[in-house]
Amino acid sequence: MSRACQTVVCKLDEMQDPGSRGFVLSLNEQLYDVFIVRQGQQVFSYLNSCPHTGGPLDWVPDQFLSLEKNYIQCATHNALFRFNDGYCVAGPCAGTRLTAVPVVIESGEIIILHGNLHADN
Ligand code: FES
Repeated sequence: MSRACQTVVCKLDEMQDPGSRGFVLSLNEQLYDVFIVRQGQQVFSYLNSCPHTGGPLDWVPDQFLSLEKNYIQCATHNALFRFNDGYCVAGPCAGTRLTAVPVVIESGEIIILHGNLHADN
C-alpha cells in the first residue's frame, strides 16, 4: 500500500532476524532500489547502491548480509557496512556510507518514508 510519502513494504514478522529484503519503490515514475535489514525489533533501510561503484549490493535477491549476519555485505567486492548507520568498516570503500532511507515500524508493519527520495529529484 502506498500513501502520499510512505510505503508499507512488509510486516516485521515476515523478515528473518537478523535478515534482509530488497524492494523496488515506484515513485513519481522513477524506480528506487532499496533494502531493509532487521535486527531484533529494529529495522534499517538504505538505497541498494554501493558507494564503491554505484552498483547493487546483492547478487542473490534479498541477500544483503555477511555469512555471520553481523554486517551488510556488498557481493561485488565484499565491502562490509554496519547495520545501524551504513558506515563501511572494511573493503574498497572503507570510511564511506550507504545512503540511508528513513524507515519506521508501526503496528508491526515496516514503512519506508520516502519524502527525501522525492526531494533528491
Ligand atoms: S561494488 Fe561494492 S565493494 Fe565494490
